[in-house]
Amino acid sequence: MYKSPSRLSEQARQKVAESLNTRLVDGLDLHSQIKVAHWNIKGPGFAAFHPLFETFAVSLANHNDSIAERAVTLGARVYGTARYVAQKSRLPEYPAETSKDTEHVKLLAERIDTYLDGLRESRAIADEQKDTDSVDLLTGIITEFEKHGWFLKASLES
Ligand SMILES: [Fe+2]
Repeated sequence: MYKSPSRLSEQARQKVAESLNTRLVDGLDLHSQIKVAHWNIKGPGFAAFHPLFETFAVSLANHNDSIAERAVTLGARVYGTARYVAQKSRLPEYPAETSKDTEHVKLLAERIDTYLDGLRESRAIADEQKDTDSVDLLTGIITEFEKHGWFLKASLES
């Protein structure tokens, strides 16, 4: 671990940073999957979902950056190349053959749920280690992605 401006112990910083690294991997994978959905979606929902997915991707790119920078601030290295992400992500691969609008909405809603489960786990670890700053960072992302998940699930209801 590198030196850190944090007052937490090295052991605490290591535990939190390790968990943040797993969230970075999931977040980078989710970002790429949202973009694939943004590009491949077709159907009556195109006009609504094509730009909506882009707002998710732009926001997630910023969150991925914040998570990575928090891990480095805590004294860790981060890993996030496409090859690394492909090996480590918890998300299932995205079926690129899908084009139907509601199918993309369903697939992204499922993946956002998986991403959220990981965020909640990381937040619990940060909380255990008394890293309130990482807790705050993760809470902000959870709140936002729960809202995105709600948008998608509301769209699937009749
Ligand atoms: Fe675009």
